[in-house]
Amino acid sequence: MNAIVKKKYNYMVGKDPYEVPLEDYDVTQRELFQSNTIFGFFDRLRQEEPVHYCKDSKFGPYWSVTKFDDIMEVEGNPEVYSSEPSIALMDFQTEGDYNLSMFIAMDEPKHGDQRRTVQGAVSPRNLANMEDLIRERVCTILDSLPVGETFDWVDKVSIELTGQMLATLFDFPFEQRRKLTYWSDVATAVPGPDSVVSSYEDSQRILLTECVPAFFDLWKDRANKPPQFDLISMLVHSEETKNMATERPMEFLGNLLLLIVGGNDTTRNSMSGSVLFLNENPDQYQKLRDNPDLVTSMIPEVIRYQTPLTHMRRTATQDTVLKGKNIKKGDKVLMWYLSGNRDEDAIENPNEFIIDRARPRHHLSFGFGIHRCMGNRLAEMQLRIVWEEILERFEKVELVGKPERAYHNFIRGFTEMPVRLHPKIK
Ligand code: HEM
Repeated sequence: MNAIVKKKYNYMVGKDPYEVPLEDYDVTQRELFQSNTIFGFFDRLRQEEPVHYCKDSKFGPYWSVTKFDDIMEVEGNPEVYSSEPSIALMDFQTEGDYNLSMFIAMDEPKHGDQRRTVQGAVSPRNLANMEDLIRERVCTILDSLPVGETFDWVDKVSIELTGQMLATLFDFPFEQRRKLTYWSDVATAVPGPDSVVSSYEDSQRILLTECVPAFFDLWKDRANKPPQFDLISMLVHSEETKNMATERPMEFLGNLLLLIVGGNDTTRNSMSGSVLFLNENPDQYQKLRDNPDLVTSMIPEVIRYQTPLTHMRRTATQDTVLKGKNIKKGDKVLMWYLSGNRDEDAIENPNEFIIDRARPRHHLSFGFGIHRCMGNRLAEMQLRIVWEEILERFEKVELVGKPERAYHNFIRGFTEMPVRLHPKIK
């Protein structure tokens, strides 16, 4: 039975995008992302049917919006394209009271109220305060790496560093920081034999029995202390959210998970992507060595090129028309950032990785409009510091094997990346 389902839903893998009829296109097939063969399918959609309806998929029917400007139009109309009930393709079958609620999946005015509560944590002033600590932690990690030996960059650098950043943001017990990474993995995992969870029920159980109690304890701890600049303290001491943990526990967990997941996979995978892209483009790596100041424009280019979140979903609140297509009330609409970021009408030579672009922030990886990523400056800062310190120490972070990609259609990431470090000749 399973074999039949798999065959049916991965039929595009290994095919020429021009051989598959457009009416059979389903760009949510995870194998296309794992094999990194999705781009040809997006190219054809942008050329021939930029707003496309998939009538049958593992996740039900949905629209794909693949061009840069059309994605901006959808993002710019939250009254027509709602973030509720979910920004994920899949509608979870919620059981009992397990109904996670987070402000990324809320419309106004609730979204704005809750976003305002926590955004101080990533205000320019707070980021400036955090910069020294982040740099110190980056240096400790980089100085502990085994120079001249092969090791996994994903585990030793990308996961470790983003885990440390999260612990800093939440003022979470530092020695237990891998728990944050683990809960984030649990929250986003596709269940299966090689996954951290065997079923969605399994992931719910882990989050409810491990993550929630740990954060309740932190909540109590911060409630008994004067306000400080970590996210839990901000939630505890804010008028809008101070009763959230006790009165609306699922909203409490949802918003915490949003911050953990938002700040985890995305930054982690950009960190890994940067190593891959510089190895694939030795001329750009040389340009960077010759002029380390280019780190500032390279980082947004890494984030564009990687596009750590492939899409976000919206749901039509009314019948509407987009590029001549009739979208019906209740239809799911996917805004494919990964495709928009490769749109030749919006970005010059979009398939090339160029570290000194004139407008490097002109990309969709952080979304656009009222839901634009809250942590975008924090993410850029972390990545900038990592590369500033790498350039101080190493001539090259050499990729010595094939990176493994995640089996996911939402998070675009790596599970393994073997590298070897070459010390800088001083
Ligand atoms: C390279 C790293 C990152 C990428 C690519 C990324 C991407 C995104 C995207 C695409 C959205 C949705 C935007 C939309 O719907 O228009 C988003 C929202 C969000 N991100 Fe990030 N993110 C990153 C890092 C972070 C970090 C470090 C944090 C931690 C503070 C964070 C927290 C959030 C939050 C709280 C939201 C919800 C904003 C809202 O709904 O108003 N993100 N992010």
